[in-house]
Amino acid sequence: MKSPTSEARPHMTRNEGLIFERSAPGKCGVELPPLDVPPVAAAGALGEEFFRPDIEDFPEVSELDVVRHFTRLSTWNYGIDTGLYPLGSCTMKYNPRLHEAVARLEGVATDHPYTPESLAQGCLRILAETMRCLAEITGMDAVSLQPAAGAQGELTGLLLIRAYLESQGSPRRYVLIPDSAHGTNPASVVMSGYEVKNLKSDARGCIDLAELSTLMTGEVAALMLTNPNTLGIFEPDIRRICEIVHAKGGLVYMDGANMNALVGIARPGEFGIDVMHLNLHKTFSAPHGGGGPGSGPVGVKSLLEPYLPVPIVEQLEDGSYTLNYDRPHSIGRVRAFYGNFGMAVRALAYILAYGPAGLRQATEDAVLNANYIKARLKGTYELPYDAPSLHECVFSDRRQAARGVRTGDIAKRLIDYGFHPYTTSFPLIVSGALMIEPTESADKAELDAFIDALLSIAQEVEENPQLVLKAPHTTRVTRLDEAAAARKPVLRWKPSSRLRDWTL
Ligand SMILES: Cc1ncc(COP(=O)(O)O)c(C=O)c1O
Repeated sequence: MKSPTSEARPHMTRNEGLIFERSAPGKCGVELPPLDVPPVAAAGALGEEFFRPDIEDFPEVSELDVVRHFTRLSTWNYGIDTGLYPLGSCTMKYNPRLHEAVARLEGVATDHPYTPESLAQGCLRILAETMRCLAEITGMDAVSLQPAAGAQGELTGLLLIRAYLESQGSPRRYVLIPDSAHGTNPASVVMSGYEVKNLKSDARGCIDLAELSTLMTGEVAALMLTNPNTLGIFEPDIRRICEIVHAKGGLVYMDGANMNALVGIARPGEFGIDVMHLNLHKTFSAPHGGGGPGSGPVGVKSLLEPYLPVPIVEQLEDGSYTLNYDRPHSIGRVRAFYGNFGMAVRALAYILAYGPAGLRQATEDAVLNANYIKARLKGTYELPYDAPSLHECVFSDRRQAARGVRTGDIAKRLIDYGFHPYTTSFPLIVSGALMIEPTESADKAELDAFIDALLSIAQEVEENPQLVLKAPHTTRVTRLDEAAAARKPVLRWKPSSRLRDWTL
C-alpha cells in the first residue's frame, strides 16, 4: 500500500480520497462567535423526525479541507468547456454564458412556481414565447414544455397517441420502431402500454418501404422514427413513409433528438410528422450530462392538441398570460408544475440570441463539421453506410478488429490524446460502431487535432496494438473492469469499507 504523497507527481492531482477519509475528530469548518441568545438543540431545531442517530462518522473537516477537496475533484472533469466532446447522438454543444446570465436574473431564477399569475407574468411570457418559437421551428401546432427529458417526451407523445386513438374508438396494439432506434424508444413504447414491432433498415440504413407497408396494419398505433436517424442519415422517403402510416390510420412519432441537423432548414410538421419531442439540453444548448436537469418538450399537430398535459400557458385577449387547467381531454400532468423552467429560459435565450439566420448557420456548421470528419477518416476507418449524412457520422471498427482492437479500445486511447471519446457500439446496426458528432461548436483546428488523433491511433493499431488495448495510459485511473463496475457497483461508503489502498 502506497500513499500518493510518497510518489513524485507533477501536480497535486493525485487520487483523491473521500471527504469522510479526511475527517479527524475535532476539526471544524467554521468558528462562529459565541451565541448571545439561548442555544437550541440541533435535533430540536430541525425537528426530531429529521434526526438520524444512525449516521455515524459525519466528516469533521476544516473549511480548507472542503475547498481543496472539491476544487481538486472539479479539475478531474472533462466537460464541453474543456474540449471537444464528440459523443454521437448526444449533441454536446457549447452552452453560451449569456444564457446562464439570463437564467440567473432575479425574478427569473427566484420566482416560485406558486407565485400568483398576476405576479408571474414575465415567467409565463417566457414559457409562452418558448412554446411559440419551438412550434415555429418544428412546424407543429402546439407544444408542451412539461417533459423533463427526451425519454419523458417520448412517453408523453405516445400517451397522447394512445389518448387520441382511444377517443377514436381504435385502441391499437403495436408501435413500429426501426432497428437503428435509440434505446429509449422501445422502452417508452412498453411504458406507454404498447408492444414493439421491429422494422429492419435497408442497405442504405434507412426505413425499408416494402417492409413498412407489410407491417403497417390496423393493429399498429404509430411508427416511431428518428430523423435524421442514428446514422445521421435523413430519411429520403419521409413523406411517403408518413403517407403509408396515415393511410392505415396510424400516427407518426418523430424522435427529434437529432434536430441539430434540421433547425432552420426543415420542419417536421411539414413532412408529415404528427408528434415529436425535442431535447432542449442538446439542440438548444441548455447544459446536460450527469443526469440532468433536462427538458424534452413535445410538439403536436392540432389533432393531438386537446390531449396535451395540463397546465398550458395561454395568452388572454388583454395580452396577459394565464395557466389553463381546464382541459377535459388532457392526459394530465407528466411533471410537477411547468417542466424545468430554467431549461426553457436557456433555450429561449439561445433562440433569440441566434435569431433565424444564426440558428440555420449553426445547423449548417454542425453538418459541415461532421462531413469534414467523415471525409478525412473514411479512408482509414470503415464507413458501413456511405450515404449522404448530416450532423454525425458512424464508422465501424472492422479494419482494426482484424488486429484485435475494438471500438472501446480506440475510444480509451483517444482519452490519452486529450479528447472525450465518441459514442461506442451504437447504433446497434453497425458492428463495433464509432459514432461521432462534433456539433457546430468545434473550429477547424480542433477538428483537425481530433482527426489526427484518430489517424494516429489507427497507425498504432497496425504497429503496436497492445498500446491501444491497454489504454488509457495517462489518466489517474487506468483501464477499469467495466463489467464489474456495472454489475457490482459500490455506491455507498461505509466506515467499515474505508479505502486504505491509495494506489488504486
Ligand atoms: C436519438 C435519441 N433519442 C432519445 C434520447 C433520450 O433523451 P434523454 O437522454 O433526454 O432522455 C437521446 C439521448 O441521447 C437520443 O440521442
